Amino acid sequence: MLDLIIRNATLPDGREGMDIAVEGERIADVVPAMDAAAAQEIDAGGNLVTPPFVDSHFHMDATLSFGQPRINRSGTLLEGIALWGELKPHLTHEAIIARALEYCDWAVANGVLAIRSHVDICDDRLLAVDALIEVREKVRDYMDLQLVAFPQDGYFRHARSAENLARALDKGVDVVGGIPHFERTMEDGRASVIALCAIAAERGLLVDMHCDETDDPLSRHIETLACETRRLGMEGRVSGSHLTSMHSMDNYYVSKLLPLIAEAGVTAVANPLINIVIQGRHDTYPKRRGMTRVPELMAAGVNVAFGQDCVMDPWYPLGSGDLLDVAHMALHVGLMTGQEDMRRCFDAVTVNGARALGLDGYGIGKGCRADLVVLQAGNPVEAIRLRSPRLHVISRGRVVAQANARQSRLSLPGRPETCAFTLGV
Ligand code: FE2
Repeated sequence: MLDLIIRNATLPDGREGMDIAVEGERIADVVPAMDAAAAQEIDAGGNLVTPPFVDSHFHMDATLSFGQPRINRSGTLLEGIALWGELKPHLTHEAIIARALEYCDWAVANGVLAIRSHVDICDDRLLAVDALIEVREKVRDYMDLQLVAFPQDGYFRHARSAENLARALDKGVDVVGGIPHFERTMEDGRASVIALCAIAAERGLLVDMHCDETDDPLSRHIETLACETRRLGMEGRVSGSHLTSMHSMDNYYVSKLLPLIAEAGVTAVANPLINIVIQGRHDTYPKRRGMTRVPELMAAGVNVAFGQDCVMDPWYPLGSGDLLDVAHMALHVGLMTGQEDMRRCFDAVTVNGARALGLDGYGIGKGCRADLVVLQAGNPVEAIRLRSPRLHVISRGRVVAQANARQSRLSLPGRPETCAFTLGV
């Protein structure tokens, strides 16, 4: 007897009428109309069943702190960093854990079962590092939380970043981060990329660097990151986050840069909700869109993933931990309304993120981890269009969240019958 069967599923690749059998924490089989019994059955009713959403870029130490100690008035990255600096001395271990766990609940309800979160290491107490390592342990049975040692105030610009970063990695933080565009000079930024990649290579760790998060068309740190990745033989293990300067770069230079990123196997992580409101703040009109060149990166063969980045924190007053919202914004900002383009945006919040994080056993196939989301949608495009309810979220073979199907009832004057319908379908 199987533990669980999800019947009549439509898969992201378009296969319909599929049954997914689960034994323990793994998928035992995926076939049409399976003749078998299980302790629990879920009827997907022809709806889309997908591997879980993956958030490739988040800041869990800052989330849900909106308004503390005040609101970001300019909306800029730099005021956000200053505001976070004002909040840092008042952080407590308990408060960080409480906010992070609340956010993880939101994420699970939204079908997000893997998050890569940056954690600021510039607080000498490493309060957030200890707190998020504790959170990582608390959620381990149902969510992959990967932590990045992030020198928010600069690797060289902040006096004790190097020491703190090493301490954070010694404590078990998973990934090496950086912020070259916030160093004092372009040369310091370049040196920080080289130094941080060397640390990752020496320790055998992944890299995910905030890179060129600026409207400056001459910011060139992604070039250095791609070059160092190749030089150190770290292809496939490095991500460049944001890359917003690419939006403003000269087209000829980008035509050289795209193949460099592709040959280095560097993942590009865009954060569309944040990029669209943080960038372009110094523009009058026209205002730049502030997202990296997503369709061009994808066309060049680069693995492109999307992140939520911020939810209700010093940089962003909105957000709900819904990666369908993120994909929705990305395809609008990137002018990606073609059917294939929209499906690629769905990949950017699922399978491409899993590749960036190096998740084990991700996918819907025999032997994969039984991490699955049943959406009230017929296909990935409809899921993005409707930001569909997550009807069932299954982690390691167990149902961890459920939601009612969305339905509206209309009682209109001049219309004899009350009618029930699903909005937008
Ligand atoms: Fe970020």
